[in-house]
Amino acid sequence: MSLSTTLLAGIIFLVAIFFSMLGQGGGVLYTPVQVLFGIDFHVAASTSLFLIMLASLSSTLVFRKAKKVDWSLALVLESVTAVGGFIGGFTSGLVSGETLTGLFSGLVAFAAIFMIHEFKHASKPLTAKNSWFYWQRSFNDQHYAVNLLLALPVSFLAGACSGLVGVGGGILKVPLMVLLLGIPMDIAVGSSALMVGLTAAGGFAGHLTAGHWDWQISLLLGVVVFAGGQIGARKSLALDSRKMKKMFGWFLLLIAIIMLVKNVTVRGIVWPFHPSGIFIDGLAAKPVIYLSTSLVLLGLALYYNYRLRQNILKNHISTAQLLGVAVALRDHGTAMHNFRVTYAASRLGEVMGLSKRSMQGLMKGAFLHDVGKIGIADNILKKPGKLEPAEFILMQRHVELGVELLTDGDWFHDALDIVRYHHEKYDGSGYLQQLRGKEIPLAARIFMVVDVFDALISKRPYKEALAFEQAIKMIKQQSAHHFDPEIVTAFCSIAKELSDEVHGNEEQLKQRLMEKRIRYFGI
Ligand SMILES: [Fe+2]
Repeated sequence: MSLSTTLLAGIIFLVAIFFSMLGQGGGVLYTPVQVLFGIDFHVAASTSLFLIMLASLSSTLVFRKAKKVDWSLALVLESVTAVGGFIGGFTSGLVSGETLTGLFSGLVAFAAIFMIHEFKHASKPLTAKNSWFYWQRSFNDQHYAVNLLLALPVSFLAGACSGLVGVGGGILKVPLMVLLLGIPMDIAVGSSALMVGLTAAGGFAGHLTAGHWDWQISLLLGVVVFAGGQIGARKSLALDSRKMKKMFGWFLLLIAIIMLVKNVTVRGIVWPFHPSGIFIDGLAAKPVIYLSTSLVLLGLALYYNYRLRQNILKNHISTAQLLGVAVALRDHGTAMHNFRVTYAASRLGEVMGLSKRSMQGLMKGAFLHDVGKIGIADNILKKPGKLEPAEFILMQRHVELGVELLTDGDWFHDALDIVRYHHEKYDGSGYLQQLRGKEIPLAARIFMVVDVFDALISKRPYKEALAFEQAIKMIKQQSAHHFDPEIVTAFCSIAKELSDEVHGNEEQLKQRLMEKRIRYFGI
């Protein structure tokens, strides 16, 4: 074996290890590496597909043993991707190769940045989705739901994109599966290894028919790739999925840069289903380089803008928390009431089918409902017994004070419904505006039930805590008087479970609230 063949085998070995760690076939690099070593492009392309198949087979064997391959998922998504790939490849002749590569490198860079950045997900965000188009998957103790209305068109588009730009489907599969479809990273990587292999098998069959295959070089590199695939897949299983996701992001960024460079330096790119045979010719073109660079820069700008907005949001949430806790400490000596009612309001809001935006207002308002108490004198706020009528009027001022305090901050505007109306009553006997029925905003009607219920089952300086059954009885008695009957019914359906959740371990409650925060605020 010559030195250059040995060197080629060594490089292919390293590529196979790295790509299989990421659930990839390796087609993006196998062909250019062979061409670099003077192998004919046609032969390099068919060998590359053969290698992708082997790498896929090799790593699928490892992932299968570790139960990371969701076979049904892979087959369903892959069948649609293949159709998209065929159509993409078939129509790619209409668009110039360098334009497609330039565009695609921008898209890949964009996807890369979103993989490198750490996204937070609530621990079980998908289990509640029961619509017919959610395909519930239970796999290796992981539960997730795939939105088929999204997954099938996206898989088709991913296939079509791969077909158009002339790379194997692997580059798009994992990020789409993780970011868009919510499939756990390890299962996405494990399943995509199989999917990439299936795509390559289709392409390889075409090349075999066309007589492009050099079995000798394929077999030599095949052994190397199979071994690399075994090592890579095992390494991948030992990595935690956070690291894997970041690594994948850097890998995508690398691919984006390679594609940009390749657009200028390498003559062609490969796509197995391309009607002209195999190649889409690509020649250096300045406008395309400018366009591609602009796309990468746009991706970076959008990413930093996103980061900035996330930081601002984080600061807003911290401010809200600080305010709410400060007032609660003065009022009750603990902020647990705020945590409890915010969590309970979010649970009840979910039962009432509130939108994500309304949930944000509900949670902010619940946490800050009594923020105006900061301006109420101690002798009234902390009076152990019942307030005199004149004192009660002064106490009612906390509603106005709260509204005044939050009116200037745009971010708090959706919290105002609760701050302003949380002491109204359904029959119009509340304060300050004596609104009645549905005149009271929904968020306030939801909040008043959980607020009163929490007050009933909590010990206060002037009263003992009521038992759960007694408190529920009082809430039911106040249906249509103090509370909206519809909301009372919804509340009763979750009251027992909710009461156990909010009165258990404090740390657990904060953790549950954090999950809601991530779900509705994304941070
Ligand atoms: Fe209040």
